Amino acid sequence: MLPHKQIELKLQTAVRGVLPDADVSALFVRPCDPKFGDYQSNALMALAKQRKLNPRQLATDVLARLDVNEVCEKIEIAGAGFLNFRLKNAALAQTLAAAARDEHIFFTKATAPKTVVVDFSSPNVAKPMHVGHIRSTGIGDALQRTLRLLGHRVISDNHIGDWGTQFGKLLLGWKQILDRAALDRDPIAELERLYKVINAECDANPARLEEAKSELVKLQAGDAENISVWKEMIRVSQVQFDAIYGRLGVKFDVTLGESFYNPHLAGVVADLLRRGVARESEGALGVFSDGTLPPKEDPFLVHRDGEWVADPALVRKSDGGFNYMTTDLATIEYRLKTWSPHEIVYVVDDRQGPHFKKLFLTFARWQAQAANQVKLVHVGFGKIMGDDGKPFKTRSGDTVKLGELLDEAEQRAFKLVSEKSADLPEPQRKDIARVVGLGAVKYADLLPNRQSDYVFNWDKMLAFSGNTAPYLQYAYARIRSIFRKLENPESRIQNPELQLAAPEELALAKHLLNFGLTLEAVAEEYRPNYLCNYLYELAGKFTSFYENCPVLKADAAATRDSRLVLCDLTARVLKQGLETLGIEVVEQM
Ligand code: ARG
Repeated sequence: MLPHKQIELKLQTAVRGVLPDADVSALFVRPCDPKFGDYQSNALMALAKQRKLNPRQLATDVLARLDVNEVCEKIEIAGAGFLNFRLKNAALAQTLAAAARDEHIFFTKATAPKTVVVDFSSPNVAKPMHVGHIRSTGIGDALQRTLRLLGHRVISDNHIGDWGTQFGKLLLGWKQILDRAALDRDPIAELERLYKVINAECDANPARLEEAKSELVKLQAGDAENISVWKEMIRVSQVQFDAIYGRLGVKFDVTLGESFYNPHLAGVVADLLRRGVARESEGALGVFSDGTLPPKEDPFLVHRDGEWVADPALVRKSDGGFNYMTTDLATIEYRLKTWSPHEIVYVVDDRQGPHFKKLFLTFARWQAQAANQVKLVHVGFGKIMGDDGKPFKTRSGDTVKLGELLDEAEQRAFKLVSEKSADLPEPQRKDIARVVGLGAVKYADLLPNRQSDYVFNWDKMLAFSGNTAPYLQYAYARIRSIFRKLENPESRIQNPELQLAAPEELALAKHLLNFGLTLEAVAEEYRPNYLCNYLYELAGKFTSFYENCPVLKADAAATRDSRLVLCDLTARVLKQGLETLGIEVVEQM
């Protein structure tokens, strides 16, 4: 068992000894500042607060029953009641040796796996995926990979926008001005053109708008021709989405678009009315504030002209059409019924924050019992900005298409790789450029705290130094090159004895042990940036180790073997970590 797990289990036992009825499920330890130790727990302070106990006294009582001699030096109580743990070197060495024998790679699978639905990417049919989609797609994919790695059951669901009023205009365009050849060449561009032309016509001419509306009504009524054109539009869009997902290595378990829920919408609204959750207002139906929240926190209110006014969640329009909200309510109900998830996670940009607040509250008012069984989480994120401080656009002011952005990433990476490694054959340089270019874009997007906006900067994300994907990929390849110098590069050191004497060896070893805790923190807070920073630190600690501790030229064979194990484990964690972020590595760069 990994030392931190062992400490947590022993801590639970000790706490139960002192407080038999305490909830011990949250008695975690976390890596801490090496000044204080290797791990720290602040859980006792929370527990003491709950029970109005003196935290230092509780810590003392728990400590008296805590037996972690096997893995820890003397435990210290610090500050208001922190527990600080310092690992014994022998325990550290044993843990690394077990990893070298492939018994673990510094994390353990969850003992109580959760079922989690991850709703992410979710582009809209007939519109190209643009640069903004990298955010939901990349963050969502990193989260699904992390959760799966930790042994949870994940259902990733691409909730594509395949329904809505825009189809009236698209259908009209398809029937009257479609350019078949253009559709074959670039279907989404052609659909976009249809929409733009008809939309402009509708703005100028009310009769045209009526025509579009009647196409929509026919679609909604199930008209065979309109249904088949609509399906074709979804199909050609999906082909282009899939091309991008293929490049990005992103997979979904299901793609249940908005239209999938159409048959349920009328029933949802009827039920909301019957239970008094929704009511009529100016011909539409909506959910209003129930007054239980202070106005500032109430998403059903907005502040306008000095007063709080209603901002209902609309579930049926005055023309009888249903809303985005209605579909999302039906979607929650379907997901609960189908998968009984513990969590549903929505990776959607922060501008939809109010929508999700209303959605979660409405669902709780509608189905209180079911809502108690599931954690609904909006994992929001900020915008991508250009150098000018405005949302990132092309020079001509258009949105940047994701496919073109990925092309440019690969081209720029190819130039850099060709400068750096001119001697490698071109196909290999192309492949490295693909891995580096895509990795750079993904990593730059995952690295900042997801809620902050960040500036898109090619030079920065593609740099081989600093906190970037190319730096980490290069660190990996460099370690692999050490092994290529061995007589037998693929053979593992058998039954290694780890010698952790130099401070750099110890620091690297301890950091390796924190991989699992980092993954858990990513899953708990839905923050892949924790893993980015962990890997960056790992590469840094490896560099100081490598600069200070000769490996192939070590004085003794045993030292050399021990250091080779440190190299190998670092490479494996780098690879596994990057893979968890959806980023590939290459053996040679
Ligand atoms: N298609 C939506 C958009 O582009 C995002 C959907 C997010 N998922 C959801 N269940 N609402 O804005």
